[in-house]
Amino acid sequence: MNEPILSIDGITKHFGGIVALEDVSFDVQRGEIVGLMGPNGAGKTTLLNIIAGEYPPDSGKIKFKGRDITGYPSHKTCHLGIARTYQIPQPFVTLSVRDNLLVSAIFGRQVSKAAAELEHDRIFDLADLSEKKDTLTGELTSLALKKLELARALARDPELLLLDEVAAGLTEPEMPRILATIKEIRNMGKSVVLVEHVMKVMVNAVDRIVVIDKGMKICEGKPEAVMNDCKVIEAYFGA
Ligand SMILES: Nc1ncnc2c1ncn2[C@@H]1O[C@H](COP(=O)(O)OP(=O)(O)OP(=O)(O)O)[C@@H](O)[C@H]1O
Ligand SMILES: [Mg+2]
Repeated sequence: MNEPILSIDGITKHFGGIVALEDVSFDVQRGEIVGLMGPNGAGKTTLLNIIAGEYPPDSGKIKFKGRDITGYPSHKTCHLGIARTYQIPQPFVTLSVRDNLLVSAIFGRQVSKAAAELEHDRIFDLADLSEKKDTLTGELTSLALKKLELARALARDPELLLLDEVAAGLTEPEMPRILATIKEIRNMGKSVVLVEHVMKVMVNAVDRIVVIDKGMKICEGKPEAVMNDCKVIEAYFGA
């Protein structure tokens, strides 16, 4: 088997007395979309934060393309090719959509303004933001903000995207467009870890699902098998 793009090995993280993650391990293959699922407080965002280098784990290892990146700060993981989105979008609200993308590209990829601009139409198209290029970010709807969050991550031209609930807060009819974008991202050869609560998004978008509950991995497999797993049903709906 080829070397995984991301390898998570025995990650543990406690916040004081709170066990956020306990010995979590799984791999992500190149070109794969892995769904990371679990009830509120399961530890999903904490795991993304550790992969992206917001803070180090207490123990365990993160490998990216075979290289041990455990504890690397976020600017370094970004330059190596990992981009993440936030559960609550974090754009520069006083800048236009276009300028938000420029900031991401220039600082994330360390390219010139001209080089960054060359890529922009493709990303606007992919994220379905072409009509909103000149809109001030503070004036965007929640759907457009989610799309911009995705576009900002794409502007860094990552090999691995960590998406934290990109579909949360969207209405049912708004979901297919985001789903289509995520699949297109995978078709570009990128790998994705998708944190999501909306089961429909999970089942339709991902190749494999990892479920964590109270910081521990309780299940891993193909979407249909995971959805019918009794430990998963119990974690979500009670015994
Ligand atoms: N910086 C922090 N300080 C203290 N406790 C934290 C911190 N970050 C997370 N936690 C705790 O760790 C646990 C896991 O939180 P996390 O945000 O990773 O869960 P989650 O699965 O992303 O939940 P949600 O679905 O609500 O987004 C929770 O009990 C949370 O309160
Ligand atoms: Mg979270």
